[in-house]
This record gives sequence, C-alpha cells and structure tokens, in this order.
Amino acid sequence: MPENLLKGKKGIITGALDENSIAWHTALKAKEQGAKFVLTNAPIAMRMGAIQDLADECGTIVIPADATSVEDIEKLYDEAKEYLGGNFDFLLHSIGMSPNVRKGRSYGDLNYDWVQKSYDVSAVSFHKMLQVAEKKDVLNEWASVIALSYIAAERAFPFYSDMSEAKAILESIARNYGLRYGKNKNVRVNTISQSPTKTVAGSGIGGFDDFFDFAALASPLGNASAESCAEYIVTMFSDFTRMVTMQNLFHDGGYSTTGITQELIDAYVASKK
Ligand SMILES: NC(=O)c1ccc[n+]([C@@H]2O[C@H](COP(=O)([O-])OP(=O)(O)OC[C@H]3O[C@@H](n4cnc5c(N)ncnc54)[C@H](O)[C@@H]3O)[C@@H](O)[C@H]2O)c1
Repeated sequence: MPENLLKGKKGIITGALDENSIAWHTALKAKEQGAKFVLTNAPIAMRMGAIQDLADECGTIVIPADATSVEDIEKLYDEAKEYLGGNFDFLLHSIGMSPNVRKGRSYGDLNYDWVQKSYDVSAVSFHKMLQVAEKKDVLNEWASVIALSYIAAERAFPFYSDMSEAKAILESIARNYGLRYGKNKNVRVNTISQSPTKTVAGSGIGGFDDFFDFAALASPLGNASAESCAEYIVTMFSDFTRMVTMQNLFHDGGYSTTGITQELIDAYVASKK
C-alpha cells in the first residue's frame, strides 16, 4: 500500500450518507493517506446521524450544504477554508438523486418537475460547485475535482431513466469546466464511471440486484467495489495523476469494453435448460 499519497492536501468530500457510500470509503482512504478535509451532505441527510460518526473517526467536521443551493456552497467553502486553514487541493462530488427513479416513474411517464430536480441535484450542482470555487478562488493550482458517473451516460439502459441524461450532463460539465479551469489555474476536472455498487443511491434503481449480478458476470475483473473506487479517487487526487483532465474514467472491472463473457453465455445456456 502506498503511504501519505495526500500528505499536506486539503479538500471537501460530499455525499457520505452511510458506511456503504462511495464518499464514506473515500473519506477513510483520504484520511489514511494523510489528507485533511471536511465532510458535507444535504441538511436532510444530517438527520440520519451516521455522517457525524464518520467525522469523529476522521477527526473532522460536517458542514451541511444542499448542493443545489449556491448560497449553501458559498457558506460551505467559507467555513471549510476557515477550518482547514487554507484553500483546497481536491473536491469530491458524490451526489445523485432522481425523484422519478425513487418514486418508480417509468421513462415513458416522467414527471418533468422531477426531471429538473434530477438534473439539478445530480449534474448542475457539479457546475455550481465549480463555478463558486472559481469565483471565490478557493482551489489551489493543480487541484483535482472528481464527480461520479455511470455508463448509462453514454449507452442505453432500460432502468436508469432520467439519471442517464443527468450523468451525460455531468460528464459534459467535467469536459467544459476542465477546459476553462485548466487554462485559468491548472485545475483538473474528471468524472469516474463506476460499476454498480450496493449503496442507497444504487439500490434505488429498479432491478438493481439482478443487474449487479449480471454486471459482475460481464466484467472480466468483476464489479469494482466502493472501497476500490475510493482508492482510485485518492489516486486521482494525488500528484501522480497531474496531467489527467477532462476525462470520463471507467472504473468498472472492464465492463465498458467487454462485448460478452463466456460466463454470461454459460449462465444464459443454463437458464434455458
Ligand atoms: N451506487 C452505484 O451503483 C453507482 C454507480 C455509478 C455511479 N454512482 C454515483 O456515485 C455517487 C455517490 O452515490 P453512492 O452510490 O455512494 O450512493 P449514496 O446514496 O450513498 O450517496 C448519494 C449521496 O447524495 C447525497 N445528496 C442527495 N441530494 C443532495 C443534495 N441536494 N445536496 C447534497 N447532497 C445530496 C445523499 O445525501 C447521499 O449522501 C452518485 O453520483 C451516484 O450516482 C453510483
């Protein structure tokens, strides 16, 4: 295991809801690698209590912020900067939610007010975090900003509904803000496209458990866990990946470039018997 990959680095980690969250694992890995950071989540998630336990374990604080509110993000950056004693080297956007998915509305029967909400929470909030960071000039040179995506941004899946478009917007924001921020201040912006993962957000998708098993069979390395995703995120926050920007990086055990695996064919043949 590498040591102190993030020594001296400061940042903000959004989206740790419970011990399954990708952000939760990221906080533990970032702490292990010597980073200092604050945690944040929507005020409503705060009531569930678990995030305070993580903060205690990481020796840090939680600053509530709704990522769709520019005012909340401004306050988050001000308070985090004061607590950490300086600007940030990394930001993690680990936020996703679709009311249509959550309430079981099919793709042919979307509630358009909820579609706006899905896009705002899951994608536009990433732009807001970047824009407020740039306006307040709170990111250091070579800072690394990561958001989490899913392959349904680029390929059609029957169950991902309006989250597919939300993720497509998210990935586009990473490219376009990456261009701008790279030129302005050598800040890099990327998305990581993660395997299906058993979290609150993941399990909210219809038929998740079956698809999780299918994806494992369709990936030469199997599904990437939340913990391994956290390790990849930490690598992307480190100085070893300084020239990577404006990319959508697959962290999926090889799923995205696999046509079919023998295991899937065998499972299909067995199911016909
Ligand atoms: N779980 C999967 O299968 C999977 C796969 C690929 C990508 N992702 C993405 O990973 C990210 C993290 O999700 P997760 O799987 O760890 O699930 P999770 O449910 O643990 O995390 C989602 C987080 O978003 C937060 N959130 C929702 N609305 C918010 C708001 N308005 N302001 C601030 N925070 C808000 C929630 O409180 C929660 O902490 C999401 O972007 C998700 O789409 C997940």
